[in-house]
Amino acid sequence: MEGKRFEDIVRILIYIQLFLASVCVGSSPCMPESDRFGGYTVIGGSGNTSSAGVPSGSRVQVSVICNVGATAQSVTTQCSNGTWIPPWPRCKLPCSVPRNSGPVRQFVNGEATRPITSYYTRSTLPVGTQLVARCRDPGKYRLIGDQRRTCEGGQWTGEEPECQPVETQFLFYGALREVASNGTIVVYVHRGHPMRLDVVCYITSAWLGPPRLTTPLVNDEDLQHWNWPKSQGKRLYPISTDFSGMYTCSGSSSFHSVNVLFKDTIPYRVRAAECDVPAAPEHGRLLFGSRQQPRDIFTSGATVSFECEDDYRLVGSSEITCEKGQWSDDLPVCTGIMALFLRT
Ligand SMILES: *[C@@H]1O[C@H](CO)[C@@H](O)[C@H](O)[C@H]1NC(C)=O
Ligand SMILES: *[C@@H]1O[C@H](CO)[C@@H](O)[C@H](O)[C@H]1NC(C)=O
Ligand SMILES: *[C@@H]1O[C@H](CO)[C@@H](O)[C@H](O)[C@H]1NC(C)=O
Repeated sequence: MEGKRFEDIVRILIYIQLFLASVCVGSSPCMPESDRFGGYTVIGGSGNTSSAGVPSGSRVQVSVICNVGATAQSVTTQCSNGTWIPPWPRCKLPCSVPRNSGPVRQFVNGEATRPITSYYTRSTLPVGTQLVARCRDPGKYRLIGDQRRTCEGGQWTGEEPECQPVETQFLFYGALREVASNGTIVVYVHRGHPMRLDVVCYITSAWLGPPRLTTPLVNDEDLQHWNWPKSQGKRLYPISTDFSGMYTCSGSSSFHSVNVLFKDTIPYRVRAAECDVPAAPEHGRLLFGSRQQPRDIFTSGATVSFECEDDYRLVGSSEITCEKGQWSDDLPVCTGIMALFLRT
């Protein structure tokens, strides 16, 4: 009997000590958190939780009722000296699916197989989704705004990306290549099969002075020069994975850089079955096959053809077909009949 009473006394003393400790040291209660996109109900706690909060150490069940469109999960959370563990639930509002404007191309979570165009049938993307943007042709456009944006609270963070045409452009001819979702130009190097890539720095404005092409190659003197007006070109042959890096095309007052990655293999992958609009050749036109309307995206099987202005001759294929996200052939060029195409 005596032992039992003693235990009770000790227990009471411990409670008093805990109480004093929390009062003296100052364990803060937790307040319910308000939510822009909904309300909540609290089960548990004592008294008026919205005015006095919940004392440290107490556990409550919170269910959130969100406004239309938003979602949240109900949780059981404990107050620990002013902090809810786990955090108080919040209503999360998804973001609307943005459209690609002009030459901007956007990819969900930066995955090449998930272009935003394939989400056009949906109305929203969930909170936390990341969008990565690039320009259709990174050699001819500069991306301004934020390349990466995240869906937070119903809004895309950062500034909407935009593509501005540049006056110091890159033209590429030769080896198989594609544009990664982050705007890097990926050139495929066939092992054991020498491939060539002609890189041309082309200036669209007469005011920019002579064009200059800089490459990451230590010694690119040996590369042949392109013989076009307002342009400097270099022939990389045979291409190798050592050629990766920043390529810069500059005039007297402006420049433009692209990141070029030379990759060893042509990977097998499931691609979006769409091709981007090919660029019209200099001194040439793009003819949109059966449909005369310019389109944003071409599906598999679509054909476009090219023609050159008078006094220019088409070099390459005059007609190309979209095959599983890739054009069947490189884009042709229009060369002046008088100007030598290449000085060899
Ligand atoms: C509670 O947090 C406050 C402020 O962060 C701190 O000063 C105090 O010591 C904490 N009390 C306990 C019991 O941990
Ligand atoms: C709880 O407190 C809030 C804020 O002080 C008050 O608006 C509300 O009427 C109170 N609820 C109850 C049931 O007393
Ligand atoms: C861009 O994408 C390429 C190809 O997927 C990748 O190798 C490279 O690391 C990426 N660059 C950046 C800066 O994320």
